[in-house]
Amino acid sequence: MASDTAPTGSVTDRAASLDPIASEPPSPRMPAGISDDVLDIVFRQARTPSRWSDAPVPQAVLHTLYDLVKLGPTSGNCSPARLVFLESRDSRERLRPALSSGNVEATLAAPVTVIVAQDPLFYEQLPRLYPQAEARSWFAADLGLADETAFRNATLQGGYLILAARLLGLAAWPMSGFDAAKVDEMFLSGQGWRSNFLINLGYADELPDTPRAPRLTFDEACLLL
Ligand SMILES: Cc1cc2nc3c(=O)[nH]c(=O)nc-3n(C[C@H](O)[C@H](O)[C@H](O)COP(=O)(O)O)c2cc1C
Repeated sequence: MASDTAPTGSVTDRAASLDPIASEPPSPRMPAGISDDVLDIVFRQARTPSRWSDAPVPQAVLHTLYDLVKLGPTSGNCSPARLVFLESRDSRERLRPALSSGNVEATLAAPVTVIVAQDPLFYEQLPRLYPQAEARSWFAADLGLADETAFRNATLQGGYLILAARLLGLAAWPMSGFDAAKVDEMFLSGQGWRSNFLINLGYADELPDTPRAPRLTFDEACLLL
C-alpha cells in the first residue's frame, strides 16, 4: 500500500480497518488509547543506546518486565526461556571473561545484564503449562525436537523482552558476542540451562547520533504469494 493511502489514527483504528473481528467494540480490558506514539517508542525511535544513565533498574521493574514477557506466545505454551538478571557490578565482572572485547565496556556500565537462556528440560513443565495434551512425551522422546523448540521459543521470548523493555521506558542492548560455554559453566550449571543471548538493560543517557543502519525494503525481504 502506498504511504499516502496508509490509514491514519490509532493502532486500534488501524486494526479495526484491517480486521473485521477487531471492528467489534473493544472489550473493557482492551487498551483503547493506544496511539501511533507506541510504534515510535517500540520501533521507529528506539535505538540500541550509546550510553547508560546511572539510574538503577528497580527489581519491581524487572518483575513487571517478566510479567509481560511471559505472556508472549510460545509453541504449546512451552515457555522455555529462563532469565538471569545480573544486577550487581560483581556479577557483571564475573561475566567479563566470557564477553567479546567490544562488549565489555557497555556491559560493565549497564545497570543490568540479562542472560536469556533456555531450559533444555522445559517439557517437564508441560503437564502444567499445556495440560490439554500429552505434550511432555513429544519432546522427551525426541531431544532434537526439544532443543529446536527450546531455542526457537526462547529466542522469541528474548525478542519480547526487548520490546517490553522499550515499552517500560528502558533501553535494551542485545549481544551475541560472548562465549556461551563459559556463561553456561559460570552462571547456569546449577540449573542446566543454556545461554542463548545477552541483553544489557538500563535507562539510556544517550542514543547514537549516527543514523540508523539501513534496513531491507519490503520488496527485498518479503514475498507476497
Ligand atoms: C541477537 C543480537 C545480537 C547482537 N549482538 C551484539 C553484540 O554482540 N555487540 C553489540 O555491540 N551489539 C550487538 N547487537 C546490537 C545490534 O548491532 C543493534 O541492535 C542493531 O545494529 C540495531 O541498531 P539500532 O537499534 O541502532 O537500529 C546485537 C543485536 C541482536 C538483536
